[in-house]
Amino acid sequence: NDADQVAAAILSWYDQHGRKSLPWQQNRTAYKVWLSEVMLQQTQVNTVIPYFENFITRFPDVQTLAAAGIDEVLHLWTGLGYYARARNLHKCAQVVTDKYKGEFPEDPELLEALPGIGRSTAAAIAAQAYNKRAAILDGNVKRFLARLHCVPGWPGQGNTLKALWRLAEHYTPQQRCQAYTQAVMDIGALVCTRRNPKCDQCPAERWCAARLTASQHDFPHSKPK
Ligand code: ADE
Repeated sequence: NDADQVAAAILSWYDQHGRKSLPWQQNRTAYKVWLSEVMLQQTQVNTVIPYFENFITRFPDVQTLAAAGIDEVLHLWTGLGYYARARNLHKCAQVVTDKYKGEFPEDPELLEALPGIGRSTAAAIAAQAYNKRAAILDGNVKRFLARLHCVPGWPGQGNTLKALWRLAEHYTPQQRCQAYTQAVMDIGALVCTRRNPKCDQCPAERWCAARLTASQHDFPHSKPK
């Protein structure tokens, strides 16, 4: 069916063009994946990289982070913004250390119950760290899927968000979930950009409803006034 074909094209694009040298992709652990995903929630990759490196140097594992003082964690976070993320990060490290003996759970539902981890971050950790089948839907993936299907409405609106999650689930393959989730994030960030998307480089071009109708810039709809 079309979902399999789209996922296969996305995976093939990933093998040729996807990002494979990000710091949290080296000697991958659930701890590194979690730390990077929390940092990436509201911050771009290039900004996150030096902060990620500093955190890993100072807190090489989740137990070390859990044992640190919140003041030091906040100090290392300075400049990343959204400081509730740093407080939740510290709390989450303590829960994982105490309740899960320092091992992040593999089940997205258990991950989502942890401080600072929403549905998409939980899925990203399950897929990236454990290659589990879990659909992600961050801002970049919302834009990609909204264009692929010309999904009407603003993604902050309940019905629109629900439609996008259905599509995210629909296209997520059974196999190679780690590569697939990284691929859709990379396509959203590097190809299906908000302005001037590079449709000729997109592995989903031939299935894209917005491309077909030259309406890429109309999706996703912006917040109603
Ligand atoms: N944004 C959120 N997670 C990401 C990841 N793993 N790679 C690139 N951008 C991201």
